[in-house]
Amino acid sequence: MNKKDKDLVSIVRGSVSNSDFTKSIHFDKRLYKQDILSSQVHALVLEKLGILDEKEREKLIGSLNIIKEEIESGEFVWKDQYEDIHMNIEARLNEIVGSLSGKLHTGRSRNEQISTDTRMYVKDAIGEIKKLIVNLQASLVDISELNSSLIIPGYTHLQRAQPVTLGHHFLAYFHMLERDYERFVRAYNVSDVLVLGSGALSGNTFKIDRKFLAKELGFSRISQNSLDAVSDRDFVLDFVYSCMSCMIHLSKLAEELILWSSSEFSFLNIGEEFTTGSSMMPQKRNPDFAELVRGKTGRSIGSLVSLATTLKALPLSYNRDLQEDKEPLFDSFDTLRDSLNVMVGLIQSLTFNDSRINEVINDSFMIATDLADYLVKKGMPFREAYAKVALELKKVMSTKKSFNDLKLKDLKKISKLFEKDVLDITIEDVVNSRDGIGGTSFSSVSKAIKEARSLLNKKKSF
Ligand code: ARG
Repeated sequence: MNKKDKDLVSIVRGSVSNSDFTKSIHFDKRLYKQDILSSQVHALVLEKLGILDEKEREKLIGSLNIIKEEIESGEFVWKDQYEDIHMNIEARLNEIVGSLSGKLHTGRSRNEQISTDTRMYVKDAIGEIKKLIVNLQASLVDISELNSSLIIPGYTHLQRAQPVTLGHHFLAYFHMLERDYERFVRAYNVSDVLVLGSGALSGNTFKIDRKFLAKELGFSRISQNSLDAVSDRDFVLDFVYSCMSCMIHLSKLAEELILWSSSEFSFLNIGEEFTTGSSMMPQKRNPDFAELVRGKTGRSIGSLVSLATTLKALPLSYNRDLQEDKEPLFDSFDTLRDSLNVMVGLIQSLTFNDSRINEVINDSFMIATDLADYLVKKGMPFREAYAKVALELKKVMSTKKSFNDLKLKDLKKISKLFEKDVLDITIEDVVNSRDGIGGTSFSSVSKAIKEARSLLNKKKSF
């Protein structure tokens, strides 16, 4: 390296603090792909402006490719004295091409660079998450179809309420995930804005072709206010929020699997590969994977709160506080990606204890609403029917265990309107009478499964 080049490195170095406190390289090195690509496209722009000649442009783009390979092969030496990803790559470029590297920073500031890299990263991350959501949705549809004849207790307030089909229960999570998917589509659109050309805060003096940049970097829109562009992190907030929402849904599902696999419920077994043994109690299998999905939801919620708090009182435009967006972003992404992967395997590993579930179903009064409905169909106002059934069942429940134990004379005590046919009502009838759109009947659920599959096929073909 000649003297002139050494000076350049020290200028670069001098423009940043040397304190560990300000460093972000240990986490923002993840943005290397985005940073390199946006620099390569920037080199094309500089050639169009006559700031680089063809040879220089080629040299810069080629050297950036070398740097990318070095990073991917693990050869790249990350230098702690350069505080972030931009400075590390710029310094290495300087080592390879000398002072030519300095031209690359023409008409571009780190403020817009970091926003660009982060937007590109979020867009890539969303692509990955969307695929994983579809995988999990497919597993939920499979398990619903595989166990389509199983009727389970449906709960409100965690009290046995009305019977539902197992498919109906699991498809509820399919729909939660569908909304999450849509949230990510919206978060993608919010991120999909080119900010390069905003300069440090007020725009650039080089007549940079922003339309060209947007096209080459795959952004569908161009920011319309440079102050807003360099300071806006709404897109990160939307991404982190979408991750959190999805984690909350996974956590609810995990909670049910934990509960249902306990000896108290004993509705299902989680595959052994998703449980661990206890170091003290040999009889135990613990549902650690599901517990950790539930537990890690806490970090997701924390990330959203942390980011929102960072943003809430910032004046325009760029402030260094914005560097604090990266860790919540990366952590939200990692947590959700890993949890989605785990949940796919977990769902596929489930087996159901049909006999235990049937025992619970038959051993209950979950038919009560339908008894009231029976009276309503014979002309009694619902409130009156409800009150009569509730009052009488309360008495009966102390001596009889389930609807199956009731005789016609017990029901006649509730109302003379009950005829023999009431005893023929089966749990299947109860389920199948809910046969409207969104209901739990076998036919509604099998239709819902078909619709879910066709939705997934459409997504997969994109
Ligand atoms: N590491 C910084 C961040 O993440 C990059 C931008 C630095 N800009 C500056 N003017 N110091 O926000």
